Amino acid sequence: MRIGILGTGNMADALGTQWARSGHEVMVSGRDPVTTAALAGRMTAAGGSAVLPGTWAEAAAFGDVVMVAVLEPGLEDVLTAAGPALRGKPLIDVTNQPQTFDVTRPIARLVADLTGAHVVKAFNLCHVDVWRMTPPVFDGRPLAVPLCGDDPDALSRVRALVTDLGCTPLDGGGLDRAVLLEATAVFVIGLWFAGADAQAILTPGEFAGV
Ligand SMILES: NC(=O)c1ccc[n+]([C@@H]2O[C@H](COP(=O)([O-])OP(=O)(O)OC[C@H]3O[C@@H](n4cnc5c(N)ncnc54)[C@H](OP(=O)(O)O)[C@@H]3O)[C@@H](O)[C@H]2O)c1
Repeated sequence: MRIGILGTGNMADALGTQWARSGHEVMVSGRDPVTTAALAGRMTAAGGSAVLPGTWAEAAAFGDVVMVAVLEPGLEDVLTAAGPALRGKPLIDVTNQPQTFDVTRPIARLVADLTGAHVVKAFNLCHVDVWRMTPPVFDGRPLAVPLCGDDPDALSRVRALVTDLGCTPLDGGGLDRAVLLEATAVFVIGLWFAGADAQAILTPGEFAGV
């Protein structure tokens, strides 16, 4: 798969490096060409396919799938600069809201409205270091990654990218449920930062009353 990545930060590096190692063609893009080229060089040196540097618009055009991984305040500018190539394309949104969560302003919906892309919300629940693990397995269980999106082809492609990480994709429902993933991230991050065992809040399935 060709994967265009909007962003040159930690999430772009972690996930992009894994996918390049899996043999995908990856292009990263950022607002500073020097930083972008340096990241592409480091990712290439990590092994796997050569990672290309590009502009926002070049990465958007390059990808069969595009991932946006920038801080929320930069999202609108970056997606606007990425331009019309995103329309109708699978677009992974990993964005988390800052601590002041606004349930009336779901980011994934904003991303979809701005771009016309087939947005899939994914990868926002875990810290970036988890996405560097090969593979992320805890207590003998592969990490499950919930996906929210509406387009079957986009979901199928992102499922494959989740599997490439050694994780298990989970169907989280349509894009209207992506706000629940955004809220969950804020909630569990709050617990973790308070020193609580956030993983312990959920029971095994047999205790779910199903
Ligand atoms: N880090 C995590 O553990 C984690 C986990 C799950 C989800 N996320 C989400 O993933 C996204 C990326 O996080 P990250 O950890 O990769 O962040 P990061 O390492 O701080 O990188 C942030 C990226 O956003 C760009 N950026 C910031 N402000 C911008 C603006 N105003 N206009 C254009 N670009 C801007 C940065 O560009 P410059 O380098 O040019 O400043 C950089 O490419 C965020 O939405 C975050 O909520 C992060």
